[in-house]
Amino acid sequence: MTEPNDTTRASRRKFLMGAAGFFSAGATTRSAFADNAKNLPPNVAAWTRNLGGGVGTRPYGTPSKYEKEVVRRTVPWLTATPESSVAFTPLHELDGIITPNGLCFERHHGGIAEIDPNDYRLMLHGLVDKPLIFTLEDLKRLPGVNRIYFLECAANSGMEWRGAQLNGCQYTHGMLHCVQYTGVALRLLLEQAGVKPNATWIMAEGGDAAAMNRSIPMSKALDDCIVAYRMNGEMLRPEQGYPVRLVVPGWEGNVWVKWLRRIKVGDQPWYTREETAKYTDLLENGKARKFTFEMDAKSIITSPSPQAPLRQEGFTIISGLAWSGRGKISRVDVSLDGGRNWRSARIDGPVLDKACVRFYSEFEWNGEELLLQSRAMDDTGYVQPSKDALRKIRGVNSIYHNNGIQTWALKVSGELENVEVG
Ligand code: MTE
Ligand code: CO
Repeated sequence: MTEPNDTTRASRRKFLMGAAGFFSAGATTRSAFADNAKNLPPNVAAWTRNLGGGVGTRPYGTPSKYEKEVVRRTVPWLTATPESSVAFTPLHELDGIITPNGLCFERHHGGIAEIDPNDYRLMLHGLVDKPLIFTLEDLKRLPGVNRIYFLECAANSGMEWRGAQLNGCQYTHGMLHCVQYTGVALRLLLEQAGVKPNATWIMAEGGDAAAMNRSIPMSKALDDCIVAYRMNGEMLRPEQGYPVRLVVPGWEGNVWVKWLRRIKVGDQPWYTREETAKYTDLLENGKARKFTFEMDAKSIITSPSPQAPLRQEGFTIISGLAWSGRGKISRVDVSLDGGRNWRSARIDGPVLDKACVRFYSEFEWNGEELLLQSRAMDDTGYVQPSKDALRKIRGVNSIYHNNGIQTWALKVSGELENVEVG
């Protein structure tokens, strides 16, 4: 660790103190930087002197205008067209485990289909006794389930295989969301249709312009998959597959087919484009892993992080998310020195199967340079690996399934950078 010299220390202190000149114990960084003294104690603020807007001015509520930076963001050079692209969840701006619907990352291969719910149909056919077609109302009339699950795109952190690349957890880890789904167990629909004894796979297909389709083993289809029409209580957003998407808990986001129009039952996988040319992992020996459905345990420090720098020395809270496609998160560790020493983080909020958990770790920041890391463990005993350990078994040709430990270098200025430790 390098010792900060006097000049950098002084300039940081200036940066940390901001215009208000001091921080009171509970002040957030934003209010501490407020520059209109007329609104500050002992004055009576503008919003207290006048009546506020009436009810009904915003029939569908939206966030405060002061939160306008809390949005999904794209990386313009990453994809050729907006119809086949991704906008990332602003993880650094969120807390708890639930992603607000309007901030869930969106990933489309053929744009957002705008489906009229009256014209929506789900077709169930193939190796079944009785092919069925469901309307949206048919699905809603069936006994429903409510489940909280994370969805992570297999390509999340995919840009980081060959070294630190994107500066911010929104971009390195923001192909992740966690919401409560309401829908029908896929098992129920398959039972209604009557699956033939030799049926071992299903194929789920979307009604979007990409007609994206994936093969899924029957065992998973009968286990915990949901044909979902609601997220966080309201109907799915168009970006998330309105009116119906497939929920495939713990498995790579690609198989969570949106705008679900068809489920075909068969006795072997279909080897579609998305499970051959894409969503396979080319190893060093020239062989490719295929059908790598499960998302391995992973975690990320969301704050502090490059988009959420530290503005103050002293008591500091590290906050982040951990998740595993194999079950429950059992422990999260945090390191301040690039993985030499670890301490157990505090998990607060629900610890659910195949859902995000929120962890915190407090420390005293004395203005020194640190290397922040987090490491997730799940109830199968799996421990999130370092990036180097992962490269040893997977090489660097992969795009998908990079669950290596992320490092943020905390600088004397309070800013952070995406780095790798050797
Ligand atoms: N389903 C259809 N029909 N079309 C798509 O382009 N994209 C897939 C999957 N389901 C896709 C789809 C991919 S790659 C991911 S990661 C998730 O949807 C993204 O879900 P989200 O947009 O709700 O975040
Ligand atoms: Co994806």
